[in-house]
Amino acid sequence: MYVEDPITICFPRMLNCVCFLPQFIGATGEEIQHGREVNKMSLITSIRKDINAAFKHDPAATSTLEVLLAYPGFHTRQFHRLAHALFRWHIPVLPRLISHISRFLTGIEIHPGAKIGDGFFIDHGMGVVIGETSEIGDNVTLYQGVTLGGTSHQRTKRHPTLGNNVIVGSGAQLIGSITIGDNTKIGAGSVVVTSAPANATVVGVPGRVVAIRNPDTDTVERLPDPVGEKLDSLERRIAELQKRLTILEGSKR
Ligand SMILES: CC(C)(COP(=O)(O)OP(=O)(O)OC[C@H]1O[C@@H](n2cnc3c(N)ncnc32)[C@H](O)[C@@H]1OP(=O)(O)O)[C@@H](O)C(=O)NCCC(=O)NCCS
Repeated sequence: MYVEDPITICFPRMLNCVCFLPQFIGATGEEIQHGREVNKMSLITSIRKDINAAFKHDPAATSTLEVLLAYPGFHTRQFHRLAHALFRWHIPVLPRLISHISRFLTGIEIHPGAKIGDGFFIDHGMGVVIGETSEIGDNVTLYQGVTLGGTSHQRTKRHPTLGNNVIVGSGAQLIGSITIGDNTKIGAGSVVVTSAPANATVVGVPGRVVAIRNPDTDTVERLPDPVGEKLDSLERRIAELQKRLTILEGSKR
């Protein structure tokens, strides 16, 4: 269970000072004061949500100190806050450098341009790649080896958009400017190249919706597997032909 302690309070405040520094360049004293209050509140709340997310999604998490010191997903998220703030202020090179240092330390590569919501959690982390135009909603969980990748070489929106409460299993590859609806689960090892609706379970290569959960009744509707059905029908047809062949061969003798 998550218990608030002094570290949870101090760490976000330290990061807050660094993250929002660029926004104050050229602002008036009043703007700075107002901006500082608003940003401080939202950043502290947001970092606390990241810590909470670790407790919510990883039963192995035992203390806030452990999350702060030993969760690469948490570390890279905080590096990304800084890199993203600098990126938004069009500061050259530095955002990519921060992202690169973060990758070196955690094995997770997040482009500074990626937009990430609150309560973001990357479990284990190694090998995760999040592209520049990716957009990630609130309370999203990614496991190791996930790619949110682009297909186009144009400077347009070319990476996935994930809704709120999405879970992406280990090694899943989400490619292109696709949209994954709220509460959808992507199976480990899936390759998803088309958009998926909300409340769905997507598995396989290429990723296919196998189930949809009805949030009102909390019931799950399994969808038919067209490939599996085709294989079943072919199997039945082959068995039927084999039977007829045996009869024909018998009548010839
Ligand atoms: C996709 C996932 C979330 C599905 O969970 P769920 O909603 O409980 O769904 P089910 O387990 O009932 O599976 C639904 C169907 O998809 C199949 N399926 C589940 N995961 C699959 C996967 N990764 N690849 C292919 N098929 C998969 C199941 O066999 C089942 O098929 P069936 O209906 O023919 O029996 C889960 O299987 C998964 O992959 N989670 C990722 C976990 C992970 O990466 N952990 C890493 C820890 S280090």
